[in-house]
Formats: sequence, structure tokens, C-alpha cells
Amino acid sequence: MILTKEQQDMLDGKYGEGTAYAMKIQVAIGECFDAERMVPITRAHVALSNQEADLWFCEKLVHAGAKCRIAPTVNPGFCYDFFTSHKMVDEKFADLMHRTNEAYKAIGAQLTYNCTPYIDTNVPMFGETVAFSESSATPYVNSVWGARSNREGANSALCAAVTGYVPEYGLLLEENRKGDILVRVEADIKNDYDYHILGMLGKKIGEGIPVFEGLPRETITKEGLRNLGAELNTSGAYAMYHIPGFTPEAPTLEAAFGGNKPKREVTLTNRDMEEILEEISVSGNRPIDFVMFGCPHFTLSEVQHIAEKVRGKKLKKEMWILTSSLIKEMAVRMGLDEIIENAGGTIVPDTCPDQPCWGHLRGKIGITESPKCAYYPQRRGIHFVIRDLDTCIEAGLTGEVKG
Ligand code: F3S
Repeated sequence: MILTKEQQDMLDGKYGEGTAYAMKIQVAIGECFDAERMVPITRAHVALSNQEADLWFCEKLVHAGAKCRIAPTVNPGFCYDFFTSHKMVDEKFADLMHRTNEAYKAIGAQLTYNCTPYIDTNVPMFGETVAFSESSATPYVNSVWGARSNREGANSALCAAVTGYVPEYGLLLEENRKGDILVRVEADIKNDYDYHILGMLGKKIGEGIPVFEGLPRETITKEGLRNLGAELNTSGAYAMYHIPGFTPEAPTLEAAFGGNKPKREVTLTNRDMEEILEEISVSGNRPIDFVMFGCPHFTLSEVQHIAEKVRGKKLKKEMWILTSSLIKEMAVRMGLDEIIENAGGTIVPDTCPDQPCWGHLRGKIGITESPKCAYYPQRRGIHFVIRDLDTCIEAGLTGEVKG
């Protein structure tokens, strides 16, 4: 790789040991992918996990004196104040969250604790080169905004935030951003939830950049696209897709493939959607113990929708709505938080379902509209029925899921 003098100085330790460490990792990644040079980034998002390995890495950089040149936004862990004040988390896990907070504060991150920064707090423009990790974030910035990011890991994105550079390979290069697979969507896509289920068909779609033909372009929402990206990355490893006539790098079907023929063609039907739901969801027609929403973090309109549905009613089961601190604050100001609290639900900021703060749900069966929410907590002994948003709200009110 050819490095500029500044980049070479970083590698040689002239910018400190921490920066040298980050640059060494990035040069190694670049060499693996035959990158010829490093290019500057303007934004970063770090999918911190609030787990020991991730924290070890960040603390190692901090102890070596690293500081972010580009302050990255960061993923959720759990809301320390809420879960410690409600005595819902063991001391050792509270300590882990505290250390995560201190390490990322010391390295100079924006302590957003939110996994959908591409919607309101860290939004790139068309053509910007960025370093985004997190399953729903990378496909969103590439596909919807037309920014350029490889599918970074939490650690490589943190290195990029420290040095301000990324190795130039993969999706940073124009020729690698064209579609590979023509995906004909014959399934009925009626709402945001259907994008969740569609995204879980990664196994059938196969490897490459999908081009979705047949989506109802006039009704696509930011929530639908957030769900599609989150699940494509849960069921496969997708960093980008195109929707001809909708996403910015695909004005036409031909442009989506860069004038080439698709390498594969796939058709997704209602039957595929039914089959995958059957595979990933606990079966329905049963009592449930709790409701969980917000994986990825819910938007203000979703919180508003729930508030309208539960206004003046009483939930039979716990309802947890996970979102950013920004949306939580909006919900408080707009009286939505009060409506949901009065019904017996809770809006929690900064928190992910895959965290040790949910110990009280072990062995229980919840309901959610998100396959990703159902996927990760299985390892903590928490299982979910997956249904559309309104069916989940109804299940919270009645205590059981019908259908
Ligand atoms: Fe976000 Fe955690 Fe779900 S990071 S997408 S809430 S698994």
C-alpha cells in the first residue's frame, strides 16, 4: 500500500502509540483486500457491544493514548441509570457498562448509544466516504444515502475514527457497487414489518448485491428500509442493495447492474415469507409474557403509533420500547411517554435486547415484530413469537397472541 507522509508518520508512531496501533490494523486490512491507498473519512459509527472483547480493544487504544479524529456515534449497550436504579442488573454488568462509557468517552466518541444514527444523528450525504459498522447502518448509508462504506466491524470502524482514514477497497470503489442478483419480489409487501421478513430471505437471495424489483416504491418508508437492511445482515452479509427508480445509484434497472447482466435471478413469494416466519418464530396462538420493540431502535412515528394504540388502555403484559435518548426525550416532551407509562409500558433509551440487563426475561416467551430482536436473545434463554406491530400491541393488551 502506498501511504502519504502523514499516514506513514501515524504508522511509525509520530502521532502516538494508540494511533500507530489503529493504523497498523488498518494497513493489514487494506493489504488483505489489495487496497492501494488509504482515503479520508468524514463520519464513523462504531457498533460497540458492551462486551469484554470489544471493551478490551477500546481500553487498549485509550491506554495507548488514542483519540478519535472523527468522533463516531456508537451503538447501544444498556441504559445504566434506568437498569441500576430499578435494580435489574448485577453489579458486574453495571460495572461493564460503566467501563464502556468511560472508555468511549475517553477516546472521544459521541455517546449516542443508538443503532439507527443514519436516520437522525449521523446522516451522510451522497458520495461521502464513511466507516459504518452495525447491521442496519451499513446497508442504509450505502443504499439509501449513496454514501460509501465497507461493512466495517466495531473495531475497524473505531480504528478509522482514530486515524481518520480507511483503506480503499470494496464498496469504496465505483465498480464494486453494481448489482449482482436480480430479486423479483412477488410477495405482498404491505407494511414495514414485511420488510423485516423479506430481509430474512438472505439464504435464498445468495451472495452479492441484490437489486429488488417489484417493491411498492410509493409506500416505502425509512422504517421499512431500516428493517430490510437489519435483516439482510442478520440472514446474510449484505452491505448494499438497490431498488431501481428509488435508491440513488439505481435510477433504472439497467443502471443498477451497471449495464451488465445479473449473475443470478431469484423470485421471492408469499410462500417464502410464510416459510421463513415459521422457521424463525415461536409458534402463535399462545399466551406471551412480554412485548419488546425497537431492534433496531424505534423512530418517533413508531412510538407515536404505539401511544395511539394504548392510549387510555391497560397492558396485561410488560411492554418495552427501545429507542435513542433523542426519541425518548421527544416522547417525554410530546406526552407520548406518559401515555405509554400510564398503560404500563416503558420506553427505554440507549438499550439493546442483546444485553445482560434482561435477566428477568430468561425462560420467558415474548412477542416482537423484529426477527433480529428474536435472534440474538435466544442465547440468553429468551424466545419470541414474531408478528406484525399491531398484532404485538394487541398481544400486550390481551396477554396472548392469536394467530
Ligand atoms: Fe440495535 Fe441491538 Fe437490535 S444494536 S439492531 S437493538 S441487536
